[in-house]
Amino acid sequence: MSTKLSQSICWQALQSHAKTLEFTHVRDLFLKYPQRFKDFSVHLDGMLFDYSKNLVTHETRELLLQLAQQERLPEKIKNMFNGEQINNTEHRAALHPALRNQSARPIYVDGQDVMPEVRRVLEQMRIFCNAITSGSRTGYSGRRFTDIVNIGVGGSDLGPVTVSEALKPYAKKGLRVHYVSNIDGTHLHDTLVLVNPETTLFIVSSKTFTTQETSVNAASARAWLKTNCHEEALLAQHFVAVTANPQVAQQAGYGDENIFELWDWVGGRYSVWSAIGLPVALTVGMDNFTALLSGAHAMDEHFRTAPLTENMPVLMALIAIWHINFMGVRSNVVVPYDQYLKHLPVYLQQLDMESLGKSVASTGEELDYATGATLLGKPGTNAQHAFFQLLHQGTQRVPVDLIAACQSHNPMGSHHEILLANFFAQGEALMRGRTYKETHAELLAQRLSKEQIAELLPHKTFHGSKPCNSILCKIFDPYTIGALLALYEHKVTVQGMIWNINSFDQWGVELGKQLASNILRQLQTDAPTDSMDESTKGLINFYQVNKKP
Ligand code: F6P
Repeated sequence: MSTKLSQSICWQALQSHAKTLEFTHVRDLFLKYPQRFKDFSVHLDGMLFDYSKNLVTHETRELLLQLAQQERLPEKIKNMFNGEQINNTEHRAALHPALRNQSARPIYVDGQDVMPEVRRVLEQMRIFCNAITSGSRTGYSGRRFTDIVNIGVGGSDLGPVTVSEALKPYAKKGLRVHYVSNIDGTHLHDTLVLVNPETTLFIVSSKTFTTQETSVNAASARAWLKTNCHEEALLAQHFVAVTANPQVAQQAGYGDENIFELWDWVGGRYSVWSAIGLPVALTVGMDNFTALLSGAHAMDEHFRTAPLTENMPVLMALIAIWHINFMGVRSNVVVPYDQYLKHLPVYLQQLDMESLGKSVASTGEELDYATGATLLGKPGTNAQHAFFQLLHQGTQRVPVDLIAACQSHNPMGSHHEILLANFFAQGEALMRGRTYKETHAELLAQRLSKEQIAELLPHKTFHGSKPCNSILCKIFDPYTIGALLALYEHKVTVQGMIWNINSFDQWGVELGKQLASNILRQLQTDAPTDSMDESTKGLINFYQVNKKP
């Protein structure tokens, strides 16, 4: 079986071209073309994207751009912004750019401009943020809110938790934010011990409002609050819902004034720009939240209008395709050199792996080429002491995205210079490596014996030519964080468009949920576990025997 894509002229040209680069070292490409950095980097506002340290030549880029044209990428991007139902298995548009559209341009879904609704909810958020921060809306005892607990999972958690942390330097004093996502009771327990029921506001965030983890955590939070506040009417002051399913929230007792709406054309992992971002708006203020949207909007406009040759998300996606489909890459790594971006890797994990973890095309046709790769990550420099050994000297090719900002929010002695020295050095080491000759000279300089040198040489030599992108920003302010997240969103979208997959559904997470609810029924009734495989049966039996303390 072979697909149209893998049989196409462009695909096969890229395969042949990859073979010609088998013995090329990126270091030599730099020697050959002194203009390489200039030719293989792009700027947008205060952001620099450098992809020159990857094993790509001008010919590689040309062939990748031809592939993009062959797969009608410009037309597909247009379709997305025109509100077409590109999420074909759920019959939905993927219009998250509408959430941050700062222009007067209308954006249509099913012939209707969605912008008035988007603006209505943003205004509702602004009024709500003012009410909380000014103290005009209080807890049941009349005291101001001091803590917000966001209850949500997946996109209803990872977006806001990542951005809250990234924008911590912009947080207003007097309002702390906590996130509870896991169904493991420990997560809620450990959060509730930190807060006072009188002054805690819960945001129950769920696009569907049917997610088990969120419903159970919200019910337990309500029960906890009820042990302190006995009046149901007052309890309502402590809970708001964010959902695309307002009817279910109403049935659960939320009044309209406590429901913030989003829409089915916003995917969960693309929803931080909607009212799902309410905890962010509450803590950094609506003006900073608007700056976040502006940064994302600037990236949207760049993505929508820039020629492919200068289009940052498109180039980033083409490099990823080059690695995955023509260089045999199966995993990639994101390393932000910024402690405030510590949640970025896990946010990108959902964005990338839920979107691109597909093995059939949008049409249902089985694919004969690789799609999404495993994504790992951790902030630098900690990551260097965890998994960089494998990146430098392992047998697999693992592309790395190194991300940093020129300015620190917390300048302290030479910390930031040391941090950035590491950011620059890792990119250089991955690309250059250290030749046998260089290593030999270094060991000689250390006055080691001939035998010692012979023993150490193979271990201390680095092949180099390891793929790496660098993203360097001026400062991680709300605008830049917005642009950075939107950059990755569109990069993932382009990969999906070229691979002809639907990057906006996530059927793969359903089966486990279904089986878990069957098993839960069995666990709660202590029923025999005959209907399942021997391994699962054995594990459940072990649990049943050992569950009592
Ligand atoms: O993990 C599957 C998923 O459907 C994600 O796509 C989504 O972000 C998450 O669950 C939470 O869904 P909801 O916001 O509907 O509770």
